[in-house]
Amino acid sequence: MIFKRVKSLNGELNIPGDKSVSHRSIMMGAIAEGITEVYGFLNGADCISSMNCFRQMGVDIEYDETIVTIHGNGLHGLKKPTGTLDVGNSGTTTRLMSGILAAQPFTSRIIGDASICKRPMKRIMTPLHQMGADITSERGNDCAPLIIKGQPLKGIHYDSPVASAQVKSCILFAGLYADGITSVTEPYLSRNHTELMFQSFGVPISTEGTTVTITPAQKLVGQKIMVPGDISSAAYFIVAGLITPDSCITIKNVGINPTRDGILEVVEKMGGNISYSNVSKDGEPTCDITVQTSELTGCVIEGEIIPKLIDEIPIIAVLACFAKGTTIIKDAAELKVKESNRIDEMVNNLSAMGADITATEDGMIINGGRTLHGAVINSKLDHRIAMSFAIAGLNADGETEIIGADNVETSYPAFYSDLNKLMR
Ligand code: S3P
Repeated sequence: MIFKRVKSLNGELNIPGDKSVSHRSIMMGAIAEGITEVYGFLNGADCISSMNCFRQMGVDIEYDETIVTIHGNGLHGLKKPTGTLDVGNSGTTTRLMSGILAAQPFTSRIIGDASICKRPMKRIMTPLHQMGADITSERGNDCAPLIIKGQPLKGIHYDSPVASAQVKSCILFAGLYADGITSVTEPYLSRNHTELMFQSFGVPISTEGTTVTITPAQKLVGQKIMVPGDISSAAYFIVAGLITPDSCITIKNVGINPTRDGILEVVEKMGGNISYSNVSKDGEPTCDITVQTSELTGCVIEGEIIPKLIDEIPIIAVLACFAKGTTIIKDAAELKVKESNRIDEMVNNLSAMGADITATEDGMIINGGRTLHGAVINSKLDHRIAMSFAIAGLNADGETEIIGADNVETSYPAFYSDLNKLMR
């Protein structure tokens, strides 16, 4: 797909549902009693992978494009999967579902695409082994394919070396089935959608600082879930509105959970013209966000804000190329183990477009202000690389060609048509 400089971007958008919340709604609905109705479910390949895996375990899930209806099997009602569970490109499905599978009275096998088969699973295998789980990597490289032989589990306390909601949530799902209490402490607080949703399904769970504690539940009660718009998807339009000349974009119903809103803080710190309206604080908080073309200044992004914007760093790197001065991103080594090595992909590809950007051990340094020019970008099975370079390409001289552009299917199938709507 080819992108060329655009004069301006204007209009209003509804972005698709939050990926993290959508995954969790399937998993909790599947093991709850009664019916769970999900409104605003993300119809992206990753969440459909979660849906199909639980269907393979005997859960009846209807999807009519506007509402997902899950007929829960109850905590102990999942069936041995009808075959290998294919998670596609989805790390969230792999890691969260493993916590559930570790406690089931059957054996399951998880496979995924080439990107998934390179992503580290030791981070969940270590705590699950401590709980008594039997989970192995088929190729002995601590990556998928994974074989999980369900076992009785015991509660543990786990000090996680990484601030990862996938690791935390895996342990919490396993803890739901364990004998005794389970707690997880993380270096910094990661997204807390699992905790909030468990609470609404009636599971005893509490948070103190960066420690979450779960008490095994007797049952989960089916719920009605309103999925907010995904701030990680909104991020592309937030940045597009700020860096494209003569632009004003309003993005409606964006989830602004405080464990996810780091990009807003960064935009404010860089001097971006951003405003909020229609704030709603029921359940997962949401609001409408309006951005306008802005004069931006670089800043330092480090420490506890990193987990709150980890998925937005690729597009923040693009933003930093359009800011005056230097932006330094630190403490973000986790970027190396996402769908692609996002430090290398952003640094190499933005350099190819003429940016002044250098990789560091745990992030990158960007000296903004250079005019970008087109290049050929390979998205490397990473939806966020494709979307970031689409926005960069609209603000670069010449042609930017993205190879593998269609992998936006992972989290935002309508990305290009939504972008087109703003060009009119
Ligand atoms: C997610 C957690 C984050 C994030 C991913 C979704 C989740 O991953 O990058 O896109 O839904 O729990 P980590 O837990 O690996 O940080």
